Amino acid sequence: MEIKTDVKESSLSLLKQGAEARVFESNFVGKRSVIKERFSKKYRHPTLDSKITLKRLNVEARCMTKARRLGVSTPVLYSVDPVLHTLTFEYIDGPSVKDILLEFGSHDIIEERLDDIALQIGDAIGKLHDGGLIHGDLTTSNMLLKSGTNQLVLIDFGLSFTSTLPEDKAVDLYVLERALLSMHSSCGNVCDKEDESGPWLDETSSNLYPH
Ligand SMILES: Nc1ncnc2c1ncn2[C@@H]1O[C@H](COP(=O)(O)OP(=O)(O)OP(=O)(O)O)[C@@H](O)[C@H]1O
Ligand SMILES: [Mg+2]
Repeated sequence: MEIKTDVKESSLSLLKQGAEARVFESNFVGKRSVIKERFSKKYRHPTLDSKITLKRLNVEARCMTKARRLGVSTPVLYSVDPVLHTLTFEYIDGPSVKDILLEFGSHDIIEERLDDIALQIGDAIGKLHDGGLIHGDLTTSNMLLKSGTNQLVLIDFGLSFTSTLPEDKAVDLYVLERALLSMHSSCGNVCDKEDESGPWLDETSSNLYPH
């Protein structure tokens, strides 16, 4: 749902107001774009607040760029503004994986589409983890599917970090598993989806990594 807002520029429309950031739809040199603004927390000391906000801004920009280098599809980063605390990204036109899974609950399940999404998720996380990058917030709202191609695009790298520790990768997968299990009633167990090499998220065999 699009909510018109009166903040700063009237050409911006608010897509999401979160606890730490506001996301607007905008236009960047003629291209449909998204502006993510990290706002200050009034309860923090202004100097500390500015440092924390800038750090998360830089982390998100750097980790998203690293993910792209690892072959994971992410929005193109157009600009970083350290003064306004904003990042400008390519707009991804399409639903989130959460929207799709909820839709499965109310319509007939198209198994092939679910398989395709599950395999794309496993493939993207495999590339991130093999490259030593932990996403940090692997929920189904942070995965978008490009209209037309159905290509999975990962967003929201604000909690990402580099690590090669199996424990960090396992926590990343645990967050994803919780997110998927909360959808269980509408779409069944997506974690059981498998390719010819077996289930891509197989906790029972202690293999916590996608194939
Ligand atoms: N590049 C994009 N294209 C289209 N929609 C986007 C894009 N980036 C974000 N969005 C929309 O805005 C929502 C919020 O974005 P995002 O997940 O980055 O912020 P957040 O969850 O509020 O951030 P954080 O968890 O870092 O505080 C997404 O769920 C998605 O609906
Ligand atoms: Mg998010």
